[in-house]
Amino acid sequence: MALIEAAGLRKAFGDFVAVDGIDLQISAGESFGFLGPNGAGKTSTMRMIGCTSPVGGGTLRVLGMDPTTQAAQIKARLGVVPQQDALDEELTVAQNLAVFGRYFGISRAELYRKSGPLLQFAQLTEKAGAKVDTLSGGMKRRLTIARALINDPSILLLDEPTTGLDPQARHILWDRLFRLKREGVTLVLTIHYMDEAEQLCDRLVVMDHGRIVAHGSPRELIRTYASREVLEVRFDVPDHAQKAADVDGLADRVEVLADRLLLYTHDGDAALDALTDRGVHPQSTLVRRASLEDVFLRLTGRSLVE
Ligand SMILES: Nc1ncnc2c1ncn2[C@@H]1O[C@H](COP(=O)(O)OP(=O)(O)OP(=O)(O)O)[C@@H](O)[C@H]1O
Ligand SMILES: [Mg+2]
Repeated sequence: MALIEAAGLRKAFGDFVAVDGIDLQISAGESFGFLGPNGAGKTSTMRMIGCTSPVGGGTLRVLGMDPTTQAAQIKARLGVVPQQDALDEELTVAQNLAVFGRYFGISRAELYRKSGPLLQFAQLTEKAGAKVDTLSGGMKRRLTIARALINDPSILLLDEPTTGLDPQARHILWDRLFRLKREGVTLVLTIHYMDEAEQLCDRLVVMDHGRIVAHGSPRELIRTYASREVLEVRFDVPDHAQKAADVDGLADRVEVLADRLLLYTHDGDAALDALTDRGVHPQSTLVRRASLEDVFLRLTGRSLVE
């Protein structure tokens, strides 16, 4: 059964269409990702699913219910991690959990029972009595996630859970998300790191200008929109466009970036040999497997890593 189902879902702000008729089906236990450049409409979509922004058009069902008329019932079974942490900075870590728990009508005794394991899950046990404004960015993010779990949600919505975190904090967070997924929580997330999207998402959609431009598993997307391998070539030139002619015909497709050329081919080493045979000697080269980053670049013409 689809836990989240959208058909022709739309959202406009004045004349500006942020979400332009998208169709989605997200199943129970699935980990589903939204990828897309800034302004693609990811947060707008997540906010409609989370019942914090009214549906602008089309239909949306969350847990079989209608966000327009059954927002409270839906929210009771959702955990929401917004793009910006909305913690109470003046309160302690434990107090933040308690205040949130009371929104959901959770009793004092039950809160007491839940707080310990949640703090442990978020690795914040020692910080229980610390004021939120003294926490690091990573700790705040983990607290926001712990808080979103206070009502044992069936679906966890995470809007860029790891953006802005250092690598270590990111890894701790992803470890936590893996555990939730194993426990059967349906994860719906927006992401900016392709390596993580590849690891964590069973399925994902790429959004651009409010539309879904591709969908599938990471592997399917790579197979459809990229080649098996990529040869990256860098020259000591101010503009790589002037070097495009040097690699002409060596790959299925060539992408010209500011600082390098990307040659899409089934065999990167063979392309490199052919380049050397032409007498072309780049400053540096790299053969790698194609990734979601390449899919993204192909579909949106933009690189996610700025
Ligand atoms: N409340 C609002 N009023 C007016 N315009 C809005 C509002 N919220 C979002 N938008 C616009 O809608 C578009 C989509 O925004 P949204 O936040 O959904 O993008 P996003 O994909 O989440 O981007 P990011 O990766 O930067 O978080 C943007 O152009 C944004 O300026
Ligand atoms: Mg966003």
